[in-house]
Amino acid sequence: MGLVDTPVNALLALYIVYGIGKVVFPSLPKKSATVTSDPNESYTWMPRAHPPTIVFQTFTPKTLSEHNGQNGARILLAIKGMVFDVTAGGSFYGPGGAYGNFAGRDASRGMAKQSFEEDMLTPIDQPLDKLEDLTPSEIENMNGWLEFFQGKYIYCGELVENTD
Ligand code: HEM
Repeated sequence: MGLVDTPVNALLALYIVYGIGKVVFPSLPKKSATVTSDPNESYTWMPRAHPPTIVFQTFTPKTLSEHNGQNGARILLAIKGMVFDVTAGGSFYGPGGAYGNFAGRDASRGMAKQSFEEDMLTPIDQPLDKLEDLTPSEIENMNGWLEFFQGKYIYCGELVENTD
C-alpha cells in the first residue's frame, strides 16, 4: 500500500510537505518602498542582521569621519548628537550610495532640510553645528529622521566637540 492511498495518508503527506517547505523557505520580512512625507511611515522594513555590536563611545567630528565606510570601515553617522551604526544600510550609506555623503558625518542639517548640498555638512575641523537657525518644520523633519534611525539602526555613541 502506497503512502497516499487513503485520504488520511494523503493529508498527512501534504502536511509533511508543507512543514518541510516552511523550514526550507521561511517567510521573509516584508519590504515596503513607499515614500511619503512622514519618514516614520515611509520605511517599514528592517535589516535582516546588524554587524556585531560595538561599545557605546564618544566621537568627535574628526573621529567620526574615520567611519565613512571606506576600506571596509563600519559606517557611522550622527543626527542631533546621537551616533548610529548604519553599516547594515551600506547600500544607502556606503561609498557610491545615495546617502553616502552622510557617512562619517553629522547628518542633522541635511536631514532637517532634506538636502545633500555640500554646505549641509559642517567641516570636520569646525565646532559642532548648533542648528539654531532651523525652522520648526525643519526641526520636526530632523526629529522624524532621528526616530527612524532609532528604530532601524544601532545607537552607538554621542558626538562631542573636537578636543584639539
Ligand atoms: C529624489 C528624491 C528622493 C528619492 C526618489 C528617494 C527615494 C528613497 C527610497 C526609494 C528609499 C528607500 C526606501 C526603502 O528601501 O524602504 C529612500 C530612503 C531614504 N531616503 Fe530618500 N529619496 C529622495 C531624497 C532624499 C533626501 C533629500 C534625503 C535626505 C537628505 C533622503 C533620505 C533618505 C534616508 C535617510 C533613507 C533611509 C535609508 C535607510 O533605510 O537607512 N532621501 N529614499
